[in-house]
Amino acid sequence: MTISPFRSDILKGKVAFITGGGSGINFGVAKALASHGADIAMMGRREDVLEKACTELSKLGVKTFFKGGDVRNPEACLAALDATAHALGKIDILVNGAAGNFLCPPEVLSPNGFKTVVDIDLNGTFNMCRYGYKYLRDTHGLIINISATLHYVGTPFQAHVSAAKAGVDALTVNLATEWGPEGIRVCGIAPGPIGDTEGMKRLAPGDTGEKMKKDIPLRRFGETSEIGMAAVFLASSAASYITGHTLVVDGGQWLTKPPMVPRSMVEQMMAKSLG
Ligand code: HXC
Repeated sequence: MTISPFRSDILKGKVAFITGGGSGINFGVAKALASHGADIAMMGRREDVLEKACTELSKLGVKTFFKGGDVRNPEACLAALDATAHALGKIDILVNGAAGNFLCPPEVLSPNGFKTVVDIDLNGTFNMCRYGYKYLRDTHGLIINISATLHYVGTPFQAHVSAAKAGVDALTVNLATEWGPEGIRVCGIAPGPIGDTEGMKRLAPGDTGEKMKKDIPLRRFGETSEIGMAAVFLASSAASYITGHTLVVDGGQWLTKPPMVPRSMVEQMMAKSLG
């Protein structure tokens, strides 16, 4: 659990709406925003998960609200946003966290499998931004799109989610420029491997996670609270002139490759050449 360098009331008076906020990375974001005073609304497909998450966050002394719904359904997005504004008064921060993923080679992925992930990750993000706009314009608010680093390179078995997240990053840049004049900032966070999440269960099953850690410069998985703190930073006045930027929080993972030869071989070669 990351210790916050920020005062615990910097987001007091703000209302944050988080899709997929009941679990995993998005619950980490919800918890971090609530820990700094923001009231929290959530939308997701599993109402029991949302209810449990809201009960936990209420213990931090903030107001909470949830509404079941699927981000693929534009009417459900609009209904959840309207209900939140009615219950909590306004919306200052919209976090688009709802996502779907699985490992699958592109040559066997069904068109509907590809479409499903694009519908959740990209079209769902658009739906929320589209209908959240009127509320965010009123508050000079902030959108945080939860992205990924998968599409910065070619990531095997991830064509569907890479295509979707590339689209999400394009939306972040585009909406930042189109809605900046309205006082709306639009940013992204691109998490790397974050431990103890549904995403890592799907992408690094069995002991593959332990092997993966060896290739991460910081040699560990991130924590949901570290993504949460990135969101708190973006929502704070420290980031008031930042828009259109996607902040990578991945321990340096996407920047590097495994060494081409083992270190021991390099040392032997050096010993030979240096005498
Ligand atoms: C191949 C698959 C598949 C799989 C589903 N499909 N799972 N294809 N391999 N493992 C195909 C189905 O066959 C179907 O196509 C189509 O996808 C829709 O599947 P449904 O099960 O009907 O869809 P639905 O119930 O809406 O579920 C959506 C889902 C599911 C994405 C498939 O996994 C889900 O609800 N996920 C939400 C939670 C989640 O994934 N969290 C992890 C996010 S991680 P056909 O052709 O048969 O009809 C993440 C991290 C990114 O985003 C980066 C981290 C570093």
